Amino acid sequence: MKTTIYYFTGTVNSLAAAKKIAALLGDCELVPIASLKNKRGDITPTADRVGIICPVYDAGLPRIVADCSGRLNLSRAGYTFAIVTLGRIGVSALHQMNGILFNKQSKRLDAAFAVPMPGNFPPVGKIASVEKQETILKAADARLTEIAGLIDLGIAVPPGFSLVSALMKCITYGSVSRNGHGMYTQFSVSDTCTSCGTCAKVCPVGNITLVNKQPSWQHH
Ligand SMILES: Cc1cc2nc3c(=O)[nH]c(=O)nc-3n(C[C@H](O)[C@H](O)[C@H](O)COP(=O)(O)O)c2cc1C
Repeated sequence: MKTTIYYFTGTVNSLAAAKKIAALLGDCELVPIASLKNKRGDITPTADRVGIICPVYDAGLPRIVADCSGRLNLSRAGYTFAIVTLGRIGVSALHQMNGILFNKQSKRLDAAFAVPMPGNFPPVGKIASVEKQETILKAADARLTEIAGLIDLGIAVPPGFSLVSALMKCITYGSVSRNGHGMYTQFSVSDTCTSCGTCAKVCPVGNITLVNKQPSWQHH
């Protein structure tokens, strides 16, 4: 069965998850959501199975993913799933995606999963030690194998519910996410920067350019 997975990743957790699921399902096309940003109109995948894999931001979906989900026409898909990777709290992102899909085409996800992975946002959580990250990644790997099995069998899995996540989304998502695009003004470069340019090369939304050999953040 052919599968298309749309993914977004900031620091590669969700890309690793997407690659693992794709390898286990087979016959799978991986489409970066960032590549759809400048294309207009509906996105209509022709695969029988369609998935979306992305991180949780502020207990909700990254804005680029929310926008893309709103343009997805899933009329040809027999089975749809979403996987969010997250530090700890954020199952509400899956409810947000269900809401977006339902508003567009009266269709909900057939299966929705949240997979804890190392947190990547120092303002809200200490970055785990390498040992702790290895433990988290091992558990994530096992969970992704289990999830691929459920997807392969076409099992229905509704998103779980977490009151903490729902409350956190109410408090943080609107204000924080709306203002998130201004946060780059607070980024700075220390003199340990080697001007290698990797940040500019890997940024999924082309938000970094090198000016005088130093990263300069744009407002994407
Ligand atoms: C701006 C921002 C907001 C985040 N908000 C949450 C959150 O609300 N809950 C959570 O559990 N993790 C949160 N995280 C952590 C990421 O969801 C998590 O590390 C994810 O696996 C990163 O995936 P990626 O490497 O594919 O970008 C946040 C990360 C960022 C950058």
